[in-house]
Amino acid sequence: MQSITDIDQGTPKRSSTKTVTLEVDGINVTVPEGSSVMFAASAAERKIPKLCATDSLEAFGSCRLCLVEIEGRRGYPASCTTPAEAGMKVRTQSSRLADLRRGVMELYISDHPLDCLTCPANGHCELQDMAGAVGLREVRYGYDGANHLDKPKDTSNPYFTFDPSKCIVCSRCVRACDEIQGTLALTIDGRGFASMISPGQMQNFMDSECVSCGACVQACPTATLMEKSVYEYGQPDRVVETTCAYCGVGCSFKAEVKGNQVVRMVPNKNGQANEGHSCVKGRFAFGYTTHPDRILKPMVRKSIEDPWKEVTWEVAVSHVASEFKRIQAKYGRDSIGAVTSSRCTNEETFLVQKLVRAVFSNNNVDTCARVCHSPTGYGLKTTFGTSAGTQAFDSVDQSDVIMVIGANPTDGHPVFASRMKQRLREGARLIVLDPRAIDLVRTPPHIEADYHLQLKPGTNVALIDALAHVIVTEGLANDGFAMERCDPEEYKAWKDFVSQPKYSPEEVESVTGVPADQIRGAARLFARPGNSAIYYGLGVTEHSQGSTMVIGMANLAMATGNLGREGVGVNPLRGQNNVQGSCDMGSFPHELSGYRHVSNAEVRAQFEKEWGVHLEAEPGLRIPNMFDAALDGSFKGMYIQGEDFVQSDPNTQHIEGAMRAMECVVVQDLFLNETAKFAHVFLPGSTFLEKDGTFTNAERRIQLVRKVMPPVAGLADWEITMAISNAMGYPMNYNHPSEIMDEVARLTPTFAGVSFDKIDKLGSIQWPCNDKAPEGTPTMHIGGFVRGKGKFVLTEYVATDERTTRKYPLILTTGRTLSQYNVGAQTRRTANVVWHEEDVLEIHPHDAEQRGIKDGGSVEIASRAGSVVLRARVTERIQPGVVYTTFHHPDTGTNVVTTENSDWATDCPEYKVTAVEVTPVNRPSEWQQQHRDFSERQEELLEQRASTKS
Ligand code: SF4
Ligand code: SF4
Ligand code: SF4
Ligand code: FES
Repeated sequence: MQSITDIDQGTPKRSSTKTVTLEVDGINVTVPEGSSVMFAASAAERKIPKLCATDSLEAFGSCRLCLVEIEGRRGYPASCTTPAEAGMKVRTQSSRLADLRRGVMELYISDHPLDCLTCPANGHCELQDMAGAVGLREVRYGYDGANHLDKPKDTSNPYFTFDPSKCIVCSRCVRACDEIQGTLALTIDGRGFASMISPGQMQNFMDSECVSCGACVQACPTATLMEKSVYEYGQPDRVVETTCAYCGVGCSFKAEVKGNQVVRMVPNKNGQANEGHSCVKGRFAFGYTTHPDRILKPMVRKSIEDPWKEVTWEVAVSHVASEFKRIQAKYGRDSIGAVTSSRCTNEETFLVQKLVRAVFSNNNVDTCARVCHSPTGYGLKTTFGTSAGTQAFDSVDQSDVIMVIGANPTDGHPVFASRMKQRLREGARLIVLDPRAIDLVRTPPHIEADYHLQLKPGTNVALIDALAHVIVTEGLANDGFAMERCDPEEYKAWKDFVSQPKYSPEEVESVTGVPADQIRGAARLFARPGNSAIYYGLGVTEHSQGSTMVIGMANLAMATGNLGREGVGVNPLRGQNNVQGSCDMGSFPHELSGYRHVSNAEVRAQFEKEWGVHLEAEPGLRIPNMFDAALDGSFKGMYIQGEDFVQSDPNTQHIEGAMRAMECVVVQDLFLNETAKFAHVFLPGSTFLEKDGTFTNAERRIQLVRKVMPPVAGLADWEITMAISNAMGYPMNYNHPSEIMDEVARLTPTFAGVSFDKIDKLGSIQWPCNDKAPEGTPTMHIGGFVRGKGKFVLTEYVATDERTTRKYPLILTTGRTLSQYNVGAQTRRTANVVWHEEDVLEIHPHDAEQRGIKDGGSVEIASRAGSVVLRARVTERIQPGVVYTTFHHPDTGTNVVTTENSDWATDCPEYKVTAVEVTPVNRPSEWQQQHRDFSERQEELLEQRASTKS
């Protein structure tokens, strides 16, 4: 079903700059070469009836409803499959055409249930519309003959139903799954009258390869594939355009709403990051926004052993203000700080860091990017001059070689993965560097990595140096580019460095476990003429040498000339929806917005003038330093906006100790998450549906988040921060988040040209946006690097301290799945749990056998930090010596096992490498038992809140 506001031009818009002019019903119309007659008719504002065509899919020509007459041609060609040609004279209506179309419709309707009045698509069904459009008045064929009306409904998918009795076999769903999603889960089974749509081999949807992206549901012109929410709530009556609050792809959606009930989320055809596509999370997993677990009243308590007391916003906010003031008076100015969230908007993040700098009068602000992409910020700023990826997503359409390093796009960034898969199916070559055989390594048909360099976790830098070694020593480097665009002396020093015999593939093979010939082959492929692009994820950054590896990839791109145009670049696949934005907005303790160091007096002076305060020149505490200081007794109060580090950060028991040591922990969130269980004040946050603002995705694309309904707890997150500031005596009086963005623009050169009005007008803006680039910058570093000359930095491989030992002989590495999202606070409160009910440990059959571990058996995974128990999955997806799990469920406590080792430059935790042992057990770990008791107690204290209302 199309969104209620979309205009469907029937066939895709072509991008050719050449045009053709033709005549449709006497109207002259000019369209790009390659357009269909149907598209030309739509451009001439002539509607041709259609069923199997839609402008998001290539034409198929099966329904025969879109017939037209073309002067000088025999017969009645289908307008969707006939290319528009110069000078053509097309007629879209005639009595003969009307007869033919009525005949086609008669056949469709004779095999379609006549239950329009009770059908969920009533009024929004293309079959119904077409019956009206062709003037169908009678159906001569009865239902007595063979038909499909008794076909059973498939309701196995939690979000949509498949009712074959309503299917007209137009194949739009099949094409959507092939062309848009790239999963190829659907087929047309049988021929002629017997043909029917089938997920997999006549399976139901849940048992098939389907990943629930919903593209087929959107493409279906009837109620055959239909959202269950439309059955439940009926058709929506209004539409609000907004941006997904899950991952860094930043898909644009139309929230279709009835009253304040979101009926469905429809990916926006005009969304510049997603072009009408989405994944299961953004499209379907919005139920958490109305989940009964949401806390809707502010709460306070003296100690975490006490029941919560519900209070008014005024009482809660003044309590926070007086506690923070008391703590600072007693323990000093630096004894409090705040953490911003990459799930919140740019404006909310900006206000939190402003609160810290202008009101707390220190720089103790940090963000969850600390634990994911802080090395990206450091590495790309050092080499190129900007802490951000270099390309727009559509750049991958121009790539000839794609190197995916430490990322699992089909699970983590599914909509971008679909785009990447399209390009791979068109013939781009693929190199994957990953300890696991991620789906991209082999996705039939037609996707198979040319090289899967299955390295040992923790050896990234050795491998990138070996790739560079081959490129330099075999004369494959682009010296012209590097000598002109980068510092020549540094480039020469780097070439000497990587040419050392110790970085030859043959030497590095024993370190990485990757055969030398594969390293050589991959390096040659990457360096060949054409466009080679690097896409990477947390498998690069979450290491003790995370920043070094980011620099290593930047070196490789500069040495091969793969920067400054489309199809190339170094591209972080950002985890959270606004991780780029939270970094841009000055969330780090050492940087003001736009990545300017707090020690820069000139920059500080601008902020001091705007804010009317003195600013500290010394960087503040990072998140891990805050925990250490809390345990030392010097850090006592924390304002946490939308982050759950007790679950997400490494070495859980260390963090729990720090939380218990503080006197005022203020958590602003949707649910009583793991961190909130240690809080003294709970401030109910708002979901993305309840506020205005902007998110910035992995391509630096700033997009609007629009309020779909008022905040259910009364205040949007930016209003809460403002209230705290006012209560602490520093006035903040913004009427709307657009005023906050105006302030960001005044203070931040890369945002100088950004405003809500301009984003609204352009759809989105990729920063930098200023006088030099008034409409933004899709591709960075064209003609020169932001820092001037690109900087080669030597990347010495230093093995992590986290070594396997006899006691801990395996390496644990962690990641996430498609259906769940990070700590799972949102997705665990949706039907997505059916795909991932628990975290499981993947272990190679060889390691499992040695330990007597059975598939599905309960195992303990222990490191020097702690141990947890979970179920094992025995699989060859993981190499021997390495085990893998996710961290979506708090009861699992995966991060009890991970250690406090971190990146040398940024303190980003080394989640990807923990030495562990795995043994079969059948009882929970000690921590899990304690956690269960503690959580149950906290749930009880929450339950008791009703009886102590103020
Ligand atoms: S399920 Fe819908 S889209 Fe697929 S063939 Fe049937 S009617 Fe067409
Ligand atoms: S929901 Fe997505 S993956 Fe599943 S069948 Fe439809 S298009 Fe394919
Ligand atoms: S790909 Fe990311 S941004 Fe897009 S719908 Fe899925 S979770 Fe949302
Ligand atoms: S719309 Fe052209 S043949 Fe179906």
